[in-house]
Amino acid sequence: MTTWNLSGTERLVLLCNGDTCMSRGGDAVTVALRRALQAEGLDPQVHTARTRCLGRCDDGCTVVVQPDNVWYRTVTPDSAAQIVTEHLVANRPVAPLVSFRPAEEGGLMQVGGVTDGKIKPGLER
Ligand code: FES
Repeated sequence: MTTWNLSGTERLVLLCNGDTCMSRGGDAVTVALRRALQAEGLDPQVHTARTRCLGRCDDGCTVVVQPDNVWYRTVTPDSAAQIVTEHLVANRPVAPLVSFRPAEEGGLMQVGGVTDGKIKPGLER
């Protein structure tokens, strides 16, 4: 177990390491994104965490940047590095890879032609 001091953390990047994303290169995406963070000197400000399934398997590899609430789809090792340089360094989300982003009225807005997904039990209208 590791217990990091997170007092300088400004963002959290969730890297899906669920079964589907792992079958699509989730480990390589994780390593590439962490290397890019290190190369940019962002380790003190950006914490990363491998997760189990984030619930968007059709979009895998799935990566989420918080607190920005930007969800990325079909992330590869190359595009993981792009997320670091464009989103985390330059504060410009990588638009072609975004699947969900904050909506003005609250919640998330689905973008990029991603599949709707299933309604969670109990939330049917
Ligand atoms: S395994 Fe990654 S979103 Fe489901």
